[in-house]
Amino acid sequence: MMRLDRWLVTLGVGSRSQVQKLVRSGGVKVDGTPVTDPGRQVEEASAALTVQGQPVDGRLTRHVMLHKPAGLLTAARDKKQPTVMDLLPEVYASIGCMPVGRLDKDTTGLLFLTTDGELNHRLLSPGRHVDKTYRAEVDGELNESHVEAFAAGLHLSDFDAQPAKLEIIAPQTGLVTVHEGKFHQIKRMFSAVGREVTALHRLTFGRLTLDENLPEGQWRELTAEEIAALYDDAQMEGHA
Ligand code: URA
Repeated sequence: MMRLDRWLVTLGVGSRSQVQKLVRSGGVKVDGTPVTDPGRQVEEASAALTVQGQPVDGRLTRHVMLHKPAGLLTAARDKKQPTVMDLLPEVYASIGCMPVGRLDKDTTGLLFLTTDGELNHRLLSPGRHVDKTYRAEVDGELNESHVEAFAAGLHLSDFDAQPAKLEIIAPQTGLVTVHEGKFHQIKRMFSAVGREVTALHRLTFGRLTLDENLPEGQWRELTAEEIAALYDDAQMEGHA
């Protein structure tokens, strides 16, 4: 339960004074009935909301899959550069939907965003780090020695990368599955074996797989099954 005016402000309908005025003037209906008291407690998780006759999606918990294009920062906001949040309707930022982990500016593919801070935190915490699979194109041929080096774990300048799976799917393209998520991890792992990544694309994050029908730059909310699988990955059963 929460106050109607707070719900409306959180949804980005307007400032506190604007929404209070709107409510008092009868412009807001909850479950089909006009409510004119801005302080009325409402069941925000299930109530149907209309603002000036238009239905408004009032859910404050949302989970999003985004097919990230190159050229955007993975951040909730940035003073100078465009971010992945620019691809979503504004309401997602106002309800606190945030990217889980980061993809480099030039990396494309699966990005998961959620309003659930605990889910976000747990999916990234070192103890529970979920598997991620990337398709990497590199500047030279890949061979069995690279597969073995990835499987053995690589020594990078400031940390030892855990053993990772590399599958060669084309002479200069590999599918890499890692468990961790250090800064520039995939690029640095290839660099350590003498290959530079020329294109990087994420295909999976935990049990979430990038929807093939989602073009670059597009997003959709997760299905109930996808949400349940991610909560399970985060060992938060029963929260979905
Ligand atoms: N590893 C990288 O090097 N870059 C990414 O964007 C993700 C993983």
